Amino acid sequence: MKESATIGMSRMARELKAQGAPIISLSLGEPDFDTPQFIMDGARVGMEEGYTHYPPIPGYMDLREAISDKLSSENGVSYGPEQIVVSTGAKQTIANIMLCLLDPGDKVVILSPYWVSYYDIVQMAGGQQVIVEGKLEDEYKVDPQKLDEAMSPDVKAVIFSSPSNPTGSLYTTDELREFSKVFAKYPDTLILSDEIYEYIVFEGEHQSISQFPEVRNNVVIINGMSKGFAMTGWRIGYMAGPEWLAKACTKMQGQLTSGAASISQRASLTALKGPREEVSMMRETFRKRRDLVYEGLSKIEGFDTYLPKGAFYMLPGISKLIGRATPEGEEIKDATDFCMYLLKNANVSTVTGLAFGAPDTFRISFAASNEELNDAIQRISAAVRELK
Ligand SMILES: Cc1ncc(COP(=O)(O)O)c(C=O)c1O
Repeated sequence: MKESATIGMSRMARELKAQGAPIISLSLGEPDFDTPQFIMDGARVGMEEGYTHYPPIPGYMDLREAISDKLSSENGVSYGPEQIVVSTGAKQTIANIMLCLLDPGDKVVILSPYWVSYYDIVQMAGGQQVIVEGKLEDEYKVDPQKLDEAMSPDVKAVIFSSPSNPTGSLYTTDELREFSKVFAKYPDTLILSDEIYEYIVFEGEHQSISQFPEVRNNVVIINGMSKGFAMTGWRIGYMAGPEWLAKACTKMQGQLTSGAASISQRASLTALKGPREEVSMMRETFRKRRDLVYEGLSKIEGFDTYLPKGAFYMLPGISKLIGRATPEGEEIKDATDFCMYLLKNANVSTVTGLAFGAPDTFRISFAASNEELNDAIQRISAAVRELK
């Protein structure tokens, strides 16, 4: 298996920074805010109350009940605690599911551009990826017709995120309804709906495919605390889905981790039961940055842009720049060359679209300050102007 491309680029940026280069890092997918104070207080209280022992493997009952309440009150769907498993981040949630589900060669449909780990986790579990591509001119959203063509009764699972990493695209209720009509024809296929960016939506509202009765029993909601609550380091994610899958994932993580960290679970309980003001404040900050990045990058000749509707990423198209030469006379052969050029000549770290199944693109994260973003846009603009 390869090193995660996003982690790889961040590592390289850190190394250059350590050597003194003035790097602006726009490659990693994490909010730049600290965890809200009331959530940290919840962790402290948890410790003092004695939550320092092995937790129940699928998560504390009161946390699973709070997740169940959240799904009911915010998403309008009903999942009991026995259908919920808390894990060490949504990444582990996805890994648990794939390891439980896949036999060697089993097919998993992945909507592309995809989060880099979907592809590699399916690989790790011995599955076979079937990629269905969304095009930039459609804001990278997949045409239901194309999805239909990729489906077959032997597809074990489908996975996608909305809002999406790496594109920031958001599926609407109508679009998800079309998807659900396709999925309804395949009652043995699980639909993994990754909703980890649900609180970071700028236009319209986050919608979950779990709202459609025809697919409801096959949907597994994947979510977690990392993005919306700025809790990446606490490592808490969860699944809500069929009870048989929850039981299998519990068995799996009983051998892998013995459950998620007790203190992080107490913090998550406090977060879910608490107010959403800071979540909203972070979303509004991301919105302003999104506007700034969209405006800045749209002016750069050679970039194809669109307005991301959620998350904190944009995936500009750079097909017009492929084949151009750097001032040093090196050809930009692909998106990876372009990102290396930006890193070395503009001191801005981004991620190659090749990591997300979108070869003529690169991902920029706007989880950075306005000052850094303005500076980065100017540097990128100058570097692109120098390409011949
Ligand atoms: C789409 C998507 N799903 C899941 C995750 C994993 O999140 P966690 O920190 O909960 O493991 C990420 C993190 O980058 C993500 O972008």
